[in-house]
Amino acid sequence: MHNLTFVRKLEIEFISETLMLHQKYEGDVGCVVWDAAIVLAKYLEETFKQRRFCFKDKNVVELGAGVGCAGLTAACFGANVLLTDLAEVIPLLQLNIKENEKVIAHHGGSVKASILRWGNKDPSINFIPDVVLLADCIYYKQSIDKLLETLDNITENDTRILMSQEMRESDVQKNCWEYFVKRASEKFSFNYVPLSVQNPEYRCPDIKLIELIKKEKTCY
Ligand SMILES: C[S@@+](CC[C@H](N)C(=O)[O-])C[C@H]1O[C@@H](n2cnc3c(N)ncnc32)[C@H](O)[C@@H]1O
Repeated sequence: MHNLTFVRKLEIEFISETLMLHQKYEGDVGCVVWDAAIVLAKYLEETFKQRRFCFKDKNVVELGAGVGCAGLTAACFGANVLLTDLAEVIPLLQLNIKENEKVIAHHGGSVKASILRWGNKDPSINFIPDVVLLADCIYYKQSIDKLLETLDNITENDTRILMSQEMRESDVQKNCWEYFVKRASEKFSFNYVPLSVQNPEYRCPDIKLIELIKKEKTCY
């Protein structure tokens, strides 16, 4: 697989490290890093740098991780991270784990990968994560109810859910986003992260960064 990949380097300036993210020349959407993942990763760095969030020893799950950009970044700040995606994406995730595990271990973090198709149960998620990450995963309507089912199953009210999503001009994407917002709003509140607190270099009005907060269950 190694010679079929090319590397995207992601500088994590605050800890003077560089993540090496292998991408594939050919494959489905999970084989490259999307801009929304970079924006999310750099936002994680901002929150860590400004001491707004401590990742040390936190359990983090990334859904639809692709090459694992956001989750691997959280692991560099000391989190224990589980990167999840469809079965066919796991070999690339394993390669990226292997490539970066020394750096991650040096900063006290850990990282594993596991298959999780949205809507299915992953036996390795037998805990409620402190943080769930989701980058650029809202792009086809059939997956949205399943994705929300998974999000609901693995979170509680105090789980931090950070998502990033590129807003694309196509009607398919617009409908998809509209449907996601409608369905997600039944269980989660949307806190849009203003551009002013994002990384000044890696932010973009077309990429929404959102903290989802699970609503309290109503008791009658
Ligand atoms: C546009 S890519 C984003 C990848 C990565 N988060 C990033 O931003 O670089 C969408 C990801 O969602 C994953 N995905 C799509 N449908 C899925 C499903 N039903 N269950 C789990 N993962 C899924 C894909 O395999 C892919 O890795």
